[in-house]
Amino acid sequence: MGAIKFFIQGLRRFKEVGTISRSSQFVGKTMAKHIDFSKANCIVELGAGDGSITLQMLKNMKPDAKLLSFEINEKFCQDMKDDLGHDERLQIIQDDALKMGEYIKNAGFEYADYVVSAIPFVIIPEDDIIEESYKHLRNGNNYIQLHYSTVAKKRYERIFGNAKIDFVMLNVPPAFIHICTKNETEEEAKQA
Ligand SMILES: C[S@@+](CC[C@H](N)C(=O)[O-])C[C@H]1O[C@@H](n2cnc3c(N)ncnc32)[C@H](O)[C@@H]1O
Repeated sequence: MGAIKFFIQGLRRFKEVGTISRSSQFVGKTMAKHIDFSKANCIVELGAGDGSITLQMLKNMKPDAKLLSFEINEKFCQDMKDDLGHDERLQIIQDDALKMGEYIKNAGFEYADYVVSAIPFVIIPEDDIIEESYKHLRNGNNYIQLHYSTVAKKRYERIFGNAKIDFVMLNVPPAFIHICTKNETEEEAKQA
């Protein structure tokens, strides 16, 4: 999808899309720095848009790894299928990211090894997708979230107990990548 088509979708559906410009390659590259691709068998992507971050994941993934990319916007899904649908490692899921658990299981995995997200949580007040991500993420691994400010950092700290930020200047607008590690104790895992 070109920048103008993304701009139109962003304007029409701002509450879902949360921006009017797709991420630059530098956003996906910065997210990729926080993933150990040698150990990533299942990566879950939330809010894939037209595939800018998706492409950076696919460039780094092992030949036998899987990428489950959730996107609710039909036009974005179609464009992603046209551009990246030939890659058998990619499953484009036109459904709510909240349902990630059932798709992870259906794909044959117990956990997501990493979750990368661009869902605009600054304009989505509920924490349910973030909590679901925590639940389905492999312990010890990272949840990586795109934002255009640091105002949501406390939400991640509350759910994950930690959040650090990597800044990406080369994006419109400049991006703040939040990286949270799941550090669940045995006791917490038993209660979950
Ligand atoms: C900020 S855009 C990011 C697009 C792309 N990843 C990028 O970085 O260029 C956020 C995307 O999240 C999608 N989205 C919002 N809520 C969602 C949900 N509950 N499930 C799946 N996708 C969702 C929107 O349709 C939009 O395409």
